[in-house]
Amino acid sequence: MEAEGLLAPLSLSAKFEGSFAYLTVRDRLPTILTKVIDTLHRNKDNFFKEYGEEGTQAEKTAISFLSKLRNELQTDKPVLALIDNAEDTEAWNEYMQRQQDLMEDGNPVSWFKSPWLYVECYMYRKIQEALYMNPPMDKFDVFKEGKTQSYFESQQAIKSLCTYLQELITNMENMTAIQLRDNFLKLLQVSLWGNKCDLSISAGQDNSQKSSPIDSLPDLQRFILVDDSSIVWSTLAAAQGSGSSGMKHTRVDIVLDNAGFELVTDLVLADFLVSAGLAKQIRFHGKSIPWFVSDVTKQDFEWTIMQTMAANHKWMSASGVQWKHFVKEGTWSYHDHSFWTLPHEFCDMAVDAADLYSTLQGSDMILFKGDLNYRKLTGDRKWEHTVPFDQALRGFQPAPLCSLRTLKADVQVGLQPGQAEKLSSQDPDWMTNGKYAVVQFSNPHREQ
Ligand code: F6P
Ligand code: MG
Repeated sequence: MEAEGLLAPLSLSAKFEGSFAYLTVRDRLPTILTKVIDTLHRNKDNFFKEYGEEGTQAEKTAISFLSKLRNELQTDKPVLALIDNAEDTEAWNEYMQRQQDLMEDGNPVSWFKSPWLYVECYMYRKIQEALYMNPPMDKFDVFKEGKTQSYFESQQAIKSLCTYLQELITNMENMTAIQLRDNFLKLLQVSLWGNKCDLSISAGQDNSQKSSPIDSLPDLQRFILVDDSSIVWSTLAAAQGSGSSGMKHTRVDIVLDNAGFELVTDLVLADFLVSAGLAKQIRFHGKSIPWFVSDVTKQDFEWTIMQTMAANHKWMSASGVQWKHFVKEGTWSYHDHSFWTLPHEFCDMAVDAADLYSTLQGSDMILFKGDLNYRKLTGDRKWEHTVPFDQALRGFQPAPLCSLRTLKADVQVGLQPGQAEKLSSQDPDWMTNGKYAVVQFSNPHREQ
């Protein structure tokens, strides 16, 4: 009886015709593959200049690999095992077997029949396979141009945010506890709305931040469907005094999402946390391969800091210099782990990436940025909207955690009874149009 209550609902999948997963697999994923092919094609001369005939050949082979992949996707062919012998190849193939075991009637795992989360992640990993299999292109980031462009197109917003940050830091000493809290909540919201700016939902179209991020906050408040930010604040504030000597070495982990404006909002929040003495250490977690068009890699992280440092704007460059210093002295550190680019739900982490899970257990607060992280937190399943967030995590509770996410996929838990129905009647696309957001918190130590 209890097993029935605990059973997780079905995974979202393109097999549900007309669903957002179906439309994504049918329309958006092939568009993204076409853009990747175009990017390789446009860089043909550069590959030749850099690597000669070998570069040209690699580009051609990678393009035909990706065209074949697009065709397989569009005609719902079986998903194939990876053959590139990378660090994560075995894990991917083992996961494919798990998916195979879940298929009804022994049908092969395929694009329109298997879980959406799995096949969408698989597409990005296959793009990487096309490059791995064709050195010297194995280090090429097919999404770099778009990420760079989105950073430059958000310049105005970045300038105003960095100016705001530097003013706060200058006045930090005179700030009352209430002002400190209010400013924390503002920057948390800026980081939340920074997640509007991803390039995957728009299939690579410009999605940058144009207006002043701080000024927009009051108008956006009513679009936050669940707002646990004051619990995030009190948990962080409580962590300060919980060490044996009264002061604790508070550590915040930020599981990053997109490069461009969103990353800047995360760095600004991280700077505030350290400058205000709310955290002694920030660990950023990013992707080890290009992922979901705009996700942050180590290269993007370093590039963004360098670029901000080099900006011809006093407060932007002052921010960049400070960030570089944080990295140099180890207050900030960047980490990648292959688990972040595997297709697993996060409830699998304790078993499938035990090292990462135990690292996260050392955190005082983990901030999960963005939609894909939310999908993985909740398993990308057809949950009832009123199911508590803790329940949808299915045991994934390494430390106090908070999801900062704008809604771009049709999974949402933790709502009040009637809230989803009301939203559906007012705005039928509320789960996928990126207008709404949640700040959702869970604490493994919370008293029940
Ligand atoms: O469906 C939109 C989408 O491509 C989802 O697949 C994915 O969850 C999301 O965009 C990426 O958004 P984010 O960058 O916020 O994780
Ligand atoms: Mg993303």
